[in-house]
Amino acid sequence: MRSSDISLKGLLFIMKINHAFLLLMLITQKMPWTDGDCLYNADLRYCSCSLSDLNNIVSIVSCIQASSFEFKGGSFLYTHVNILYNVEMEQVLAMIQLPLTKVRFVDVTLSEEFLSTFLKWIYKIPIEVLAFENATFAGKSNWPYITETPPRISSLQFVNVPTYPLFDRALTFPGLGNWIFKLEELTLKKSNIRSIPCNASRYFEDLSRLDLSGNFLEDNDILALFCRGSFPKLKTLTLQSNNFKNFDTVCQSINKYSQLVQLDLSQNNFSNMSTSLCNWKSSLLLLNLTDTGLEEINFILPRNCEVLDLSYNKLDSLNISLVNLKELYLSYNKFATIPITANLPNLEILALNGNPIKTLQLGQLQHYKRLRIIRADNILYMCSCSLNHEIKEIKKSGLTLQHWPDEYTCESPMLSKGKLVSEVYHSFFECHKPLLTVIICIVALLVCIAAVICWVKIHRSNKMRSQNVRTGNMNSVQFQSQT
Ligand SMILES: *[C@@H]1O[C@H](CO)[C@@H](O)[C@H](O)[C@H]1NC(C)=O
Ligand SMILES: *[C@@H]1O[C@H](CO)[C@@H](O)[C@H](O)[C@H]1NC(C)=O
Ligand SMILES: *[C@@H]1O[C@H](CO)[C@@H](O)[C@H](O)[C@H]1NC(C)=O
Ligand SMILES: *[C@@H]1O[C@H](CO)[C@@H](O)[C@H](O)[C@H]1NC(C)=O
Ligand SMILES: *[C@@H]1O[C@H](CO)[C@@H](O)[C@H](O)[C@H]1NC(C)=O
Repeated sequence: MRSSDISLKGLLFIMKINHAFLLLMLITQKMPWTDGDCLYNADLRYCSCSLSDLNNIVSIVSCIQASSFEFKGGSFLYTHVNILYNVEMEQVLAMIQLPLTKVRFVDVTLSEEFLSTFLKWIYKIPIEVLAFENATFAGKSNWPYITETPPRISSLQFVNVPTYPLFDRALTFPGLGNWIFKLEELTLKKSNIRSIPCNASRYFEDLSRLDLSGNFLEDNDILALFCRGSFPKLKTLTLQSNNFKNFDTVCQSINKYSQLVQLDLSQNNFSNMSTSLCNWKSSLLLLNLTDTGLEEINFILPRNCEVLDLSYNKLDSLNISLVNLKELYLSYNKFATIPITANLPNLEILALNGNPIKTLQLGQLQHYKRLRIIRADNILYMCSCSLNHEIKEIKKSGLTLQHWPDEYTCESPMLSKGKLVSEVYHSFFECHKPLLTVIICIVALLVCIAAVICWVKIHRSNKMRSQNVRTGNMNSVQFQSQT
């Protein structure tokens, strides 16, 4: 028998005698039986337990300082044991520091009955996030407990939970509905969701963040999902990686949310898009269209947009006008030069990494008056003196080059291929070829002049010599004739 089992028996015995005494002992934490199987990280105030630790109340006691809990692995299908410990469990949980930031169940199989028991234990504890990851729900519960006292949970997350039982029945069990529909944040990620019925979406009156990424939602579903009256307080919506194809339909069904600030439509396929004249609400400040197969912008952008992510598309030109735009992400598109687009007076951050640009020019970047940060790594740079010069100028001008110098490498010329742009050495004359040409010309000219002068001199002295010789001969003739 494990020592914790013995100590559990001891604990339960004591519990039955005197709860107050128990609490005193737990708080002092001096008892050997407070060392359970849960691992407590004091720095993070994080407690990691196996699911079966929930059966063994003692193990959780070592975590009463924790602000977040994880229950990992195993299954919890039968609740008669837990129900037996209800009173004790509540005693222990009452000592946990409040509020909790997160309670996660990972790699688990749970019965709904267990879940409703668990919710009963924690209904007094404010919990920011209750999360289920890689979880399977089994069985059905009739949610007997939580009708009067709903748990205080602001965010509910399901990640990779193919059966999400709560929604099927939230409508039929008011006890569930009275807290699930008060959520501020709901995540249903990678959970094979094809639709959420309109009458369910209408109940989420306080929901401000909804994340439905990684599901199988299609254009046809979106009208029902975002039907009139649904999610009236929605501020952040993530529809990343679904099966949406028609930008216009998506826009038409979402642009009723007049408080929506952030919209993520990334990783859908809008490549077969015809021109859309759908207008976004003026509240929308962030639009993410990463990896959506865009070849051109033939739709209307949100006019107050501050952050626009168009990365991983097929854009090769851009003509947009967004007066408030601060961040523009154009990474991994097909721009061959830095796009100079008319009206972005407030642009501060521009990402161009992964485009087929070959060089950078400060002059072009200065087109954006407020630019502070530029990202231009993973570009096939032609490493030349002028690139070096431009980069020096860019840095001198106060612009920040993100990821410099590590991911800035040369593609050409052959000799520099694969080297870091910052490490390619150019000699003085390599970078000053015109000067070198002038110098060579001047030197050549001087040499020529010198040669000409020499030639003239030599010629002249030859002439003089021959003259001298001739006069000498004449003299000797005269001399001869005199003699
Ligand atoms: C919700 O709507 C669906 C289909 O529109 C319907 O089958 C279901 O009965 C409705 N549920 C409630 C509780 O109204
Ligand atoms: C847009 O979505 C992608 C994922 O699809 C993410 O990596 C990126 O950070 C998002 N962009 C912004 C500006 O939030
Ligand atoms: C592209 O859209 C048109 C209608 O706009 C449709 O007829 C066609 O089938 C679509 N093509 C593909 C490959 O989805
Ligand atoms: C996107 O859809 C088009 C047809 O509309 C198709 O040809 C293309 O392969 C799709 N792209 C991806 C990445 O699925
Ligand atoms: C850019 O768009 C504006 C208005 O949308 C238009 O007047 C202008 O001609 C366009 N410029 C280019 C180069 O296409």
